[in-house]
Amino acid sequence: MSHTQEVTAFSLWCRPSTLETRPIRHSTETGESMNPSTPKTVLVTGASSGIGEATAQRLAADGHHVFVGARRTDRLETLVAGLRAAGGSADFQELDVTSLESMRAFAAAARERYGRIDVLVNNAGVMPLSRIDALRIDEWDQMIDVNLRGTLHGIAAVLPGMRAQGTGHVINVASTSAHRVDPTAAVYCATKYAVRALSEGLRQENDRVRVTVVSPGFTQSELTDRGGDPVAQGAARAASEQLAIPASAVADAIAYAIAQPENVDVNEVVVRPTAQG
Ligand SMILES: NC(=O)c1ccc[n+]([C@@H]2O[C@H](COP(=O)([O-])OP(=O)(O)OC[C@H]3O[C@@H](n4cnc5c(N)ncnc54)[C@H](OP(=O)(O)O)[C@@H]3O)[C@@H](O)[C@H]2O)c1
Repeated sequence: MSHTQEVTAFSLWCRPSTLETRPIRHSTETGESMNPSTPKTVLVTGASSGIGEATAQRLAADGHHVFVGARRTDRLETLVAGLRAAGGSADFQELDVTSLESMRAFAAAARERYGRIDVLVNNAGVMPLSRIDALRIDEWDQMIDVNLRGTLHGIAAVLPGMRAQGTGHVINVASTSAHRVDPTAAVYCATKYAVRALSEGLRQENDRVRVTVVSPGFTQSELTDRGGDPVAQGAARAASEQLAIPASAVADAIAYAIAQPENVDVNEVVVRPTAQG
């Protein structure tokens, strides 16, 4: 193979910024830590219950500094007190992910407290299920605002800092509903497909910021407790009661992605009950 052919073949696999500015290096060469247990500052949205709460518990137990947000601050207060009592490093701030201002204030508070943000877990989400022809438009808007806009707000709040520090990790919690569409879940699926799409775009545009999509199947949480058409919501609750895996199973996948060396980007993980169709 000629030199020109080699360069052309190489360029197919590299981001433009990598080709322009620096050679590919591995973490052992750059001096970045290979130790998966290096403490990081991790922000978790929607940590007042379910997967977010379990993720905060797992990451604090791993020795990370955990900064959690949600609207129910009484829940966050209890969570943080428990994590600290167990020897963990944790703090919280009220957060509404539908507000860019609230998300920016949340990120700023974490930066103020810990000096930097290493990982954002964009986890907050809602799932009020209904058929499209029921026209529950307020709930469509809520899913778009929390699941999609909220994820984008999180990215907007942390990406400039991560790019400036030359490292970072955005973990977006999508769903198996980002991989298949079911009746009564069309709008929820649309938001989760969108989260996967924007995650892939974010990954392609950044060669120093890791991007992971974690897609849970039925998981024990409060997700089916709020809103939606009662029949559709009841069916989802019944399936969940029969199948659901513990929220800690999803937290374990998130912890795994975080623990990889900086040059290893776990892009997609699907974690679902073995018996889920
Ligand atoms: N459980 C499942 O079977 C399953 C399956 C696939 C994907 N997921 C995804 O997993 C993620 C976590 O959900 P979960 O199952 O753990 O349900 P959950 O127990 O209901 O937790 C949802 C979290 O999102 C927070 N949240 C909702 N609206 C918010 C807002 N505007 N601002 C800030 N936080 C908000 C809630 O906190 P506050 O109400 O206190 O604000 C809560 O902490 C979601 O993205 C969900 O779509 C869950």
